[in-house]
Amino acid sequence: MSTNRRGFLKGLVGAGAGAAATGVAGCAPDISPAPVLDATKDSSGRVVLKVSRYPDLARPGGAVTLRVEGEEQNLLVMHPQGTQYAVVSNTCTHSGCPLGFEDGEAICPCHLSRFALDGRVTHPPARAPLSTYTSSYDSEADELTIDFVAGEVGFPAVVGGKVFFPFTDFPQLRTAGGRVQGTPQGYGKLIFVFALEDGSYSAVDSICTHAKCPVRYREAETDLYCDCHFSRFTRTGEVTQGPATRPLTKFTVTSDATGVTVTIV
Ligand code: FES
Ligand code: FES
Repeated sequence: MSTNRRGFLKGLVGAGAGAAATGVAGCAPDISPAPVLDATKDSSGRVVLKVSRYPDLARPGGAVTLRVEGEEQNLLVMHPQGTQYAVVSNTCTHSGCPLGFEDGEAICPCHLSRFALDGRVTHPPARAPLSTYTSSYDSEADELTIDFVAGEVGFPAVVGGKVFFPFTDFPQLRTAGGRVQGTPQGYGKLIFVFALEDGSYSAVDSICTHAKCPVRYREAETDLYCDCHFSRFTRTGEVTQGPATRPLTKFTVTSDATGVTVTIV
């Protein structure tokens, strides 16, 4: 693990400030959102926290809300026990309240939804899982690294701002109706690539434009669906059902005889 790059930490403010920042009212009085910590990513797209500097995170059972410059979502960084840490999005998928941490689970003060360390819903009313983030803890250096651009093993990475899908590895993109989905190293978020019936291609991001929940592809409906509040999008990212009003982020796609190229930046 890299230990020579640092996210720059700007300070720690109280739980009340975290709730105020997101404009949420009416939280249950006995459960507080995790206190807020500001940070920036280093040049590799990572935040490195020296855990012992932050007592709210250092104690087993502790957690902080991480507000990272340039990231639309705050993160909930949880320390359930020992050297175990887990990082999820800190926006409840029910109605967007910031989360606290209690008894080894993320808990929403607003209507008491609960989420496991891997983001799964363990108690409603939330239905959709939280997004998860890749993290690793170096116990010798006492550093927790959160990686915003980690990708899936075996999925093409971003190289020079582009992701290339060779037909030899992704033959489904030769066929109308074909689809590839995955998280490229260097981008860190799920993308979808579609071979459309008219012979063109589409590539879109997976973050719902309503309140940032992840969308999923539905085979039978051939659409992209958000489980949080039921928005729907076409394979080219257009909204067909709200509450979302803006299309998904679309990427430029080109193709040649060898494969499909998606331009990420
Ligand atoms: S906003 Fe979290 S349970 Fe309602
Ligand atoms: S986050 Fe509300 S519909 Fe997607």
